[in-house]
Amino acid sequence: MSGAARTVSVNRVDGRLKVTGAARYAADQPVERLAHGYLLLSTVARGTIRAMDVAAAEASPGVLAVYTPFRSLALLGSGTPFSVGHSWLPLQDTEVRYHGQAIGLVLAETFEQARDAAALVRADYEVRPAAVSFTDGIPGATDPGPMMGEPARLEFLADGVGSIDDALAASEVTVSGTYQQPGKHHSAMEPHACVAAWQDGALTLYTGTQSASLTVGAMAAALGVEAAKVRVVSPHVGGGFGNKIATWAHPLLAAAAARTLGRPVKVVLTREQTFTITGNRSAVRQTVRLGARRDGTLVAVKHQVWASQSASGGIFESSAHTTSRYLYKTENLHLEQKIVTLDVPPPTWMRAPGQESGSFALESALDELAAELRLDPVELRLRNYATVYPGRNVPWSSKHLDECYRVGAQRFGWARRNPTPGAVVQGDWLVGMGMATANYPGERFPASVKVRFLPDGDVSVSSATADLGTGMWTVLAVLGAEALGLPVARIRSDLGDSTLAANIGAFGSGATASTGPAVAAAAEAAITALITLAVTDERSPLAGVPAADVRYDRGDLVSPDRRIGFPELLRAVSSAGVEATGTAAPGPEHGQHAFTSFGAHFCEVRVNRWTGEPRLSRMTTVIDGGAIINAKTARSQIIGGVVFGIGQALLEGAAVEPETGRIANGNFADYLLPVNADIPPIDVHFLDHPDLLFNPLGARGIGELGTVGVAAAIGNAVHNATGRRIRELPITLDKLLD
Ligand code: MOS
Repeated sequence: MSGAARTVSVNRVDGRLKVTGAARYAADQPVERLAHGYLLLSTVARGTIRAMDVAAAEASPGVLAVYTPFRSLALLGSGTPFSVGHSWLPLQDTEVRYHGQAIGLVLAETFEQARDAAALVRADYEVRPAAVSFTDGIPGATDPGPMMGEPARLEFLADGVGSIDDALAASEVTVSGTYQQPGKHHSAMEPHACVAAWQDGALTLYTGTQSASLTVGAMAAALGVEAAKVRVVSPHVGGGFGNKIATWAHPLLAAAAARTLGRPVKVVLTREQTFTITGNRSAVRQTVRLGARRDGTLVAVKHQVWASQSASGGIFESSAHTTSRYLYKTENLHLEQKIVTLDVPPPTWMRAPGQESGSFALESALDELAAELRLDPVELRLRNYATVYPGRNVPWSSKHLDECYRVGAQRFGWARRNPTPGAVVQGDWLVGMGMATANYPGERFPASVKVRFLPDGDVSVSSATADLGTGMWTVLAVLGAEALGLPVARIRSDLGDSTLAANIGAFGSGATASTGPAVAAAAEAAITALITLAVTDERSPLAGVPAADVRYDRGDLVSPDRRIGFPELLRAVSSAGVEATGTAAPGPEHGQHAFTSFGAHFCEVRVNRWTGEPRLSRMTTVIDGGAIINAKTARSQIIGGVVFGIGQALLEGAAVEPETGRIANGNFADYLLPVNADIPPIDVHFLDHPDLLFNPLGARGIGELGTVGVAAAIGNAVHNATGRRIRELPITLDKLLD
């Protein structure tokens, strides 16, 4: 089966709904008798709330209730349900764990009334000293324990080598650099929101989530109800990037308040609130030391990582274990991860968690080595190409990274790169070219899909997965059409509802790879059910024909002497529809191979000679992601990933105020993100190598891959343009001025 035969390029099936405003996001749900909630946030970083004065707020127009730790909502305060983003439940105690933590909820008839009343609440804190500075915390960094099944300090040494430092010392050429990046925020276009409505002891929660099922689990556990009593509805999600996986304070409080008040509650976070309520990416410092022979062969790689973590839970960037762990062949490898635990909002998964930061350090260091060796950066990578997963000796199922380099270099015009830094001047601008590698593991989870033939001639293809702008609505339609031999327009996809066929959702770049094979399984099962009905129902034109003599062909059932369409059959037997559920899961092959998507980025930057302003002029990205299911949405996803990386490289960074722990730029006026004017033409090219050892579709993930390596490619191009190696992100003009 070839990827070329499968690949189609169609518009988003939900595109019209979105551009006309008809798509209903969480906050758009038309629920009657809504009460509006507004969160109260702490204004100190650490301490205990002594008292809260809510009298003025309660007396404010339209206010229905003010909930605080002193007048709390019933949640199960002991232990934290899996997939809540922090280690505590809101309002169950008086502890303040970071600046901007939820400490109350005001409910009113309108959003504005709730917001205005919230401004009248006064909290009195017993303040304790808070640790909020990442840099200050580095000397006290601790060991996080095992990561991805391996120790945080992981070492492979060649026979006779005493230590990684010995291997480095014995290397003919070494480079060493310390790379830093600030904490970052996902900044999804749709701020987090929810509507919680109870009926007869059962909760319906409308909320933008990457995983309806994980949200059900978290809500049920926190509220003390059966999972069967919670339904999560999330048809459209306006961006997630990892911070709509975990459940945060707002749906927990909204649901608890709705239960107490006896009416539905809506909570929409303000943009500023999303910065502290819903997770972020760790700040990261990394040191990379590379030792090589004169010919460029790597002898030693030492990659040390310090990442910020919150005392109140969450995850942290695992930068080395996701990059240097397996990207290149080396005789000696040493990885080390430390965490810096701070009184800050909890980090969570953020697009390519680990690879994003790790690739910046590793791929910049390789560029430094290439410069030191006067070797082309592409050639250096090819000389250290890994064909088996280091230390495990399993081959990759499908790896064409070398082709990414060659095709990318060709499309981009890499041969025109002048290797001498600062040598290319065009008027006021210094021009440089850089490149870097992208990697992200192929992830696959068990998933179910339901296929239902309908009497009107459409077929419904549904699953409890999510589309966070990634194109899953369209992927279900494309794969359903392919499995059933029907036009895409005849498939009605449905997703984003926990009551649909079981599916863990969209994260780890694994939604298509997991759900796609289940579409085929469900289609096959539904066809079998259709044939069974056709030969057994006495009203059917095919009644009595042996099932083995009936085959399905593009919507028709064909026997030796008849052909009838399924709508005709369903109408003949007065059926409202025939359906079946199919499930697909990874098999034993998953121990025998390594599964990774790869890519290569090439970019050209221009740095103003007088102002230091860096501008991107063009990028080429070549992707080895296996089969591509819908070229159009896949291309958009890679472009989105690249833009995400441009933000990392040039603009983004949380500024934590050292005295208060406040995120001083926690809003869209001050937290800079790329806008159209920052984005150059991006040439995206997909290689066509279906990975049939990974799954029957041959498709690995591409959602996160596009981000990985972008910052290094840009930093490397800045070095080529200017001779300056900027090891601290973002690369802003002040760092390029004398
Ligand atoms: Mo991703 S960070 O698993 O949404």
